[in-house]
Amino acid sequence: MQEYVLKNDDFLVSQTDEKGKILFANDDFCKIAGYTLEEMIGKPHNIVRHPDMPKAAFKDLWETVQRGSIWTGYVKNKTKDGGFYWVFATVYPMKDSKTNETRYMSCRRKPSREEIETAETLYKTLR
Ligand SMILES: Cc1cc2nc3c(=O)[nH]c(=O)nc-3n(C[C@H](O)[C@H](O)[C@H](O)COP(=O)(O)O)c2cc1C
Repeated sequence: MQEYVLKNDDFLVSQTDEKGKILFANDDFCKIAGYTLEEMIGKPHNIVRHPDMPKAAFKDLWETVQRGSIWTGYVKNKTKDGGFYWVFATVYPMKDSKTNETRYMSCRRKPSREEIETAETLYKTLR
């Protein structure tokens, strides 16, 4: 499968509700994932989930943000056309300023090749 290697200045942002439904995605995220904004909005965030990602990584992500902390980690995502790309993600909880509802934001940048290789090796040992 084709890998899209992020550019140094690619910066992928998305926001979800408290259940992981996508509320916002920026241009870089839409373009690289291969979806239009309209296709993204309202979908569960596992729309970009790659089968190589261990469940344990997302369990850790959700437990971390639900207790109010910031999660950082490496994520392999799939693109609409069946390719994939790696990101280093920072996911953090926030409150909607108008409704006070819980929201989550993820900001993703390019990981180095060494970081990807380390994550790949680790994820093969996890389920
Ligand atoms: C703000 C935010 C961003 C997320 N970004 C991704 C992502 O880029 N890729 C991904 O596979 N899951 C992401 N998730 C986790 C998904 O919600 C989901 O837990 C994961 O895809 C596993 O899918 P599953 O619960 O159906 O097994 C994100 C969650 C949050 C709260």
